[in-house]
Amino acid sequence: MKLGILGGGQLARMMLYKTMRLGIHTTVLDPSPDAPAAHFADRFVCGSLSDPAAIEAVVGASDVSTYDIEHIDTEALLVLENRGMRILPSPAVLRAIQDKLNQKQMLEKAGLPVPEFTAPEDPEGFLNKTPFPLVQKSRFGGYDGRGVAVLKGRQDLKSRLQGPCFFEEYIDFSAELAVMVARDRNGKVLSYPVTEMVFDAQANICDTIIAPARVDAETAEKARVIAERAVTALNGTGVFGVELFLARDGRILVNEIAPRPHNSGHYTIEAAVTCQFEQHIRAVCGYPLGSAELLSPAVMINLLGERDASGGPVYEGYEQALAVPGLSIHLYGKKEVKPFRKMGHITILDKNRDAALEKAGLARALLKVRGTGKHG
Ligand SMILES: Nc1ncnc2c1ncn2[C@@H]1O[C@H](COP(=O)(O)OP(=O)(O)OP(=O)(O)O)[C@@H](O)[C@H]1O
Ligand SMILES: [Mg+2]
Repeated sequence: MKLGILGGGQLARMMLYKTMRLGIHTTVLDPSPDAPAAHFADRFVCGSLSDPAAIEAVVGASDVSTYDIEHIDTEALLVLENRGMRILPSPAVLRAIQDKLNQKQMLEKAGLPVPEFTAPEDPEGFLNKTPFPLVQKSRFGGYDGRGVAVLKGRQDLKSRLQGPCFFEEYIDFSAELAVMVARDRNGKVLSYPVTEMVFDAQANICDTIIAPARVDAETAEKARVIAERAVTALNGTGVFGVELFLARDGRILVNEIAPRPHNSGHYTIEAAVTCQFEQHIRAVCGYPLGSAELLSPAVMINLLGERDASGGPVYEGYEQALAVPGLSIHLYGKKEVKPFRKMGHITILDKNRDAALEKAGLARALLKVRGTGKHG
């Protein structure tokens, strides 16, 4: 089996942990020769993710291709798919998801619960007369909270977004949940336990995942059913990260879907029978899905660049962190640190979830990603 991976970031790198064991030959495309996955693929193509020739060099040499990032030129992918090359999730699914507004509309049409939203033709005029709070989102290109503006009142209008956008009801939530859902080529779905995402308030970036989530069994079951229905509605093949809000008024709402392994599923590398990366590979390659059973409660924390970090990364407290029982470190090998950039992650397993959380707090205090202060 030859697998192509478009994008050589940390998700591709973690897929490679598993392709190596499964005996799958890989070709990775990324514009950076030092991308996290560049040195571990069987073959690396250095090129742009919007260059049709570079994409074809990977897809044409592979039995099936997938991606580690959703910001890829779908036109080029559709042309190759029409010529009989296999790309999963299909470019149509990717395209439907890339436009966050279209994604919301599809989910709503399929009867899934989503926050109320509107896409006025004149956003400026709309903002002049609408009550606050509300949330503005860019239709294209957002990630890690970029492309989302939470507008609590008029004073926040200076941080409003430019370009194509839509507006969404502000959800007062008690938790943000995420469910990883695998769907095979025959449409069979299998989901992982519901996890809880905790955000860094300053950077609006997810920094902790708690698995399983601290919610009652009924809520967890409901969230899982919604997530599975959402992925089925998209008709996607592969692993999908479904982000949900648990609103204080009791509603469970779909926030967004990522068409790939997801930050909220990194803990499965250590804590599940089959991790999300292997599951994704199995799904797109047409192999049977593996068990998604949880072996142990787990807490994952992202290793983000410190707020003033620049230059080459310096991992302070690395050895002390490794001494914490049940802790695993994953570094993504990025050559440059930036404030809040995802540089790696830590997973802590403990039979007791609260104990895992406590150790995660300890590890966070120990391990910091600073920079040499020099660029290049
Ligand atoms: N309608 C909403 N009400 C309240 N908070 C929201 C709403 N929409 C988004 N947020 C907050 O902003 C965060 C980022 O939003 P969203 O997931 O849509 O964007 P993103 O840039 O794709 O994020 P990421 O790449 O981190 O998943 C959410 O996780 C949530 O904390
Ligand atoms: Mg999100």
